Amino acid sequence: MNGPVGEMPVAPVPDLDATPAETPERARVLLVDDDERNLLAVANVLEDLGEVVSARSGEEALRHLLKGEFAVILLDVYMPGMDGYETAQIIRNRDQTKGIPIVFLSAVNKETEHQLRGYSMGAVDYVFKPVDPIILRSKVAVFVDLFEKSKEIEAKARQEQALLDANLRANAERLRAEQELRRAEQRQAAIIQSLPMVLYLEPFNAHPRRPNYVSGDLEAITGYTYRQVADDPNIWADRLHPDDRDRTIASIEARRKSGRSSIEYRWMCADGSYKHFLDQAVLLRDAHGQPLEFAGTLTDISEQRSLEMQLVQAQKMDAIGKLTGGIAHDFNNLLAAVIGGLGLIEKRAQLPDEQRKVLAMTKRAAEQGSELVRRLLAFARRQKLEPHPVEIPTLREAVSDLLLHTLGGLVNIEWQVENGVWNAFADQAQIELALLNLIINGRDAMPGGGTLTIAAENRQVGDDEVQGLEAGDYVRLAVTDTGTGISPEDLDRVMDPFFTTKDVGKGSGLGLSMVYGFATQSNGAFRIESELGAGTTAELWLPRAPGEQPKAGRATGDKPRRRPARNLRLLLVDDHVEVRSTTAAVLEDLGHTVEQASNGAEALEALKTRECDFDVLISDYAMPHLSGTEFLREAREICPEVPAVIITGYAEAEAIHDRPEGVEILQKPFTAGRLEEVLAQVSDARVVAG
Ligand SMILES: Nc1ncnc2c1ncn2[C@@H]1O[C@H](COP(=O)(O)OP(=O)(O)OP(=O)(O)O)[C@@H](O)[C@H]1O
Ligand SMILES: [Mg+2]
Repeated sequence: MNGPVGEMPVAPVPDLDATPAETPERARVLLVDDDERNLLAVANVLEDLGEVVSARSGEEALRHLLKGEFAVILLDVYMPGMDGYETAQIIRNRDQTKGIPIVFLSAVNKETEHQLRGYSMGAVDYVFKPVDPIILRSKVAVFVDLFEKSKEIEAKARQEQALLDANLRANAERLRAEQELRRAEQRQAAIIQSLPMVLYLEPFNAHPRRPNYVSGDLEAITGYTYRQVADDPNIWADRLHPDDRDRTIASIEARRKSGRSSIEYRWMCADGSYKHFLDQAVLLRDAHGQPLEFAGTLTDISEQRSLEMQLVQAQKMDAIGKLTGGIAHDFNNLLAAVIGGLGLIEKRAQLPDEQRKVLAMTKRAAEQGSELVRRLLAFARRQKLEPHPVEIPTLREAVSDLLLHTLGGLVNIEWQVENGVWNAFADQAQIELALLNLIINGRDAMPGGGTLTIAAENRQVGDDEVQGLEAGDYVRLAVTDTGTGISPEDLDRVMDPFFTTKDVGKGSGLGLSMVYGFATQSNGAFRIESELGAGTTAELWLPRAPGEQPKAGRATGDKPRRRPARNLRLLLVDDHVEVRSTTAAVLEDLGHTVEQASNGAEALEALKTRECDFDVLISDYAMPHLSGTEFLREAREICPEVPAVIITGYAEAEAIHDRPEGVEILQKPFTAGRLEEVLAQVSDARVVAG
């Protein structure tokens, strides 16, 4: 056989019944004689034996022989030109004709010598003229018969060969199909082997169920070999997660009725970890419709579940963030009024010492409330951040100073800052605060002491590599402790605001919430990995600073203090009546004259009637109908020169990007001092501009 079997062309199998031993045309007899009468007479005699072809010379005979087959040649010996002997010689010398029997016909040479010559020329017979028709007929009949028989045998042989060929082809075809099937099976096995999936067959009535795994990499998925599973009849039920057991076993029972099942459950693998499996099966029935067995697949869907859970977690954080943010914003406004009012009383009222103390306590409580609100706003990603390039090594100094008295002697801190670590782009004060929170959590998790490792390194993130991060360069800060660790159930909740396992008064449960909010608001990410008993790693990912020099020192703190501005004529716009009155009182207390408006439209009216006779416009940001920035933009149309301040409860991006040129932002809640500072700043700016 040539070439690989698989490549053999598919030959159509001949339909043998349709071609019986081909009915040969009549056998032909070649009659060669120069005498026309002889030709006619002999032809007459032989007519019914076969087709008689007449030739009048040796040459003509040879021409006929070139064109077709003959059963026998009757050859006259004496002919003018080429005689019978010569003709016979040529016939015998040709491959195609040498097998045809030649019968010489002769009228004259009856001598033995001539007969011998005739035989030696290849004749099979020698007949003398005048020919006896009966003898000639029977002689020729023998040859015609012989010819037909041999033709028949040839046809049979051909037919057999055809049968043989067809058989061979069919065999090759079958072989090819088998190989194709085997290859398909191998392909399927390879696919199943590489998927997190095993196939099983399972008796219909087994108690407890006994899946018989038939293909797939069971060991890679569960850690158990086929043998181990087959040897322990209870292994499946024993290792189900306790919370999933009853439901799962009930579903397995129920599928005997329904004929199919699709169940998800957690199952403990050989290494003791739980995996999520999707177990799907259908009932196979025999020819009579009786239940035979279940055929099913067991698929490891742990990765999918984990991704889904991460998504749910992110959505949860988002929802809580929105809720908290809204509440915190309202509280912030109220606290602004409370703190402002208390400040006024402190200044204006002549109080006895006892009451002054109460006042101070009340103010401290309100300030603590506002600190709480600030942390909530941080979680809700609504704090005002001032991102700058931050040199990581400087963090170490800042944080170490703050920690001096916090850690106690039992906890040892180890810094591992990678050489050439990039600058992070974030609010430095908030990074410090975040690190402090994480370090204190680590300390609390190691009551018996231990080592806290703070590592900083560069990381490049590709698409989809780290959840919640866009591709790019990041600085990864990781705080690792060797403490108690966090249980998997708690791990999902540690970033929720107010989730704490600490005693009342020891923890507010806002530390990680803040870190999370800060990281997310800074276009970074925050993650916690932990194992009960083995410790915890908290990772803060911050984007790498674009290529610019870090600013020395902190953004706040080293601004030059300005001289307070006095006797300014102010227009104050705020929709919240209590907040507005308190702010107005504070401003008046600082020596300014205040005109109040409860919304943008009213304020614009005032600007028109007083023809811009104001030194500074002060507007709340979040107001219905016309926001602070919208109001100021319209105000600028009427009075292009007047400086302005926006008071904002939370740092909404729009409030910062949208504000008209030269407008300062004052963050709530604010102190009288801060208000004075901002007023000085904007009125100064006016002097410079003017
Ligand atoms: N490193 C850690 N090891 C073990 N548990 C931790 C760790 N960090 C956080 N936790 C757990 O997460 C909870 C929430 O932490 P988070 O920092 O948000 O709040 P807190 O520390 O309880 O209070 P706060 O930080 O507001 O003072 C903690 O109460 C603790 O149970
Ligand atoms: Mg904490």
